Amino acid sequence: MSKILVTGGLGYIGSHTVVELDKAGYTPIIIDNLSNSSTKNIIGIEQIIQKKLKWYNIDCKKEDALNQVLLKEGNIHGAIHFAAYKSVEESIKYPKKYHDNNIGSLEVLLNCMRKNNIKNIIFSSSCTVYGNPESLPVDENTPFKKAESPYSETKQICENILKRDSCNSVILRYFNPIGCHNSGLIGDYSNNKPTNLVPIITETAIGKRDNVTIFGDNYNTPDGTCIRDYIHVVDLAQSHTKALNYLIKNKGKHVFNIGTGKGVSVKEIINAFIKANNIKINYSIGKKRSGDIEKIWANCNLANKKLNWKAKKSINQSMIDAWKWEQHKNNHVI
Ligand code: WQD
Repeated sequence: MSKILVTGGLGYIGSHTVVELDKAGYTPIIIDNLSNSSTKNIIGIEQIIQKKLKWYNIDCKKEDALNQVLLKEGNIHGAIHFAAYKSVEESIKYPKKYHDNNIGSLEVLLNCMRKNNIKNIIFSSSCTVYGNPESLPVDENTPFKKAESPYSETKQICENILKRDSCNSVILRYFNPIGCHNSGLIGDYSNNKPTNLVPIITETAIGKRDNVTIFGDNYNTPDGTCIRDYIHVVDLAQSHTKALNYLIKNKGKHVFNIGTGKGVSVKEIINAFIKANNIKINYSIGKKRSGDIEKIWANCNLANKKLNWKAKKSINQSMIDAWKWEQHKNNHVI
């Protein structure tokens, strides 16, 4: 079974992708330095796939260590590069940390891939590369706007590095990943306190917070709150195995939006959680959050057509799964 290197494979999206790689008949080789993840995800993945996994506790920026793994494993067919810091808010506080890590790790990985004749890479990018779009939905030809955060800037720079590199690549521009595997056994163990909407809702539901603050309700949207394209993380994970299958047959450079194609507002997400789980969520209206864009959702026709991939799970299912994860993470009986 083709070996696939998965950097950041114990993270939120990485762990879900490892499950899908196994299901698709690939052999994932995980690299993760646990800087923003947990070995608890190894236990969860192995319970789901019912087999032992190979993982190396190394930092992707350490070229010798990464090269040793590639030499030792041999016959690696491709790499999926998740290893990066992902908090928009934190990147504003520590721009250099984000540049060194997110750009440095990709450069080291590409060097090691060249040395070991690995030609295929799937790269984890983000809809934040579009900035505040003028027209919606955004498609892959929508030009980059000025990055709204150092996080987004690192994704723009990494995409340009890949365009110039000699490898075959698929860049996947994620919209807003939410939810978790229906077992509730794997999920986001990020070290920093969540800043994303859905984990803040589930922390409110479990009593870790008193309420959700909606950052502004006077945007130019139907209910005044910001609109995003929220995609179930399992749908997102499955786009990676489809992208791998596609890249093996279609060498060169490819970019795909990975979303649902539907915009959903903050208030709609809160109400969807309440309805799906029959749990009251208190919320208040606060000031707008700097860096927030008003609305964005994806045109995913290219991924639908070329990758034969389409998001299938509903917002309702995502809310049920997100709540399951919050309870599992806090050792609540599910
Ligand atoms: C969503 C909406 C907030 C918290 C994320 C990731 C980024 C990228 C894109 C992949 C916004 C509002 C939030 C709260 C709120 N994904 N909100 N109260 O900012 O779209 O970015 O998706 O790369 O990595 O960070 O997601 O969940 O932070 O915010 O009102 O307590 O919810 O204003 O409109 P965002 P988010």
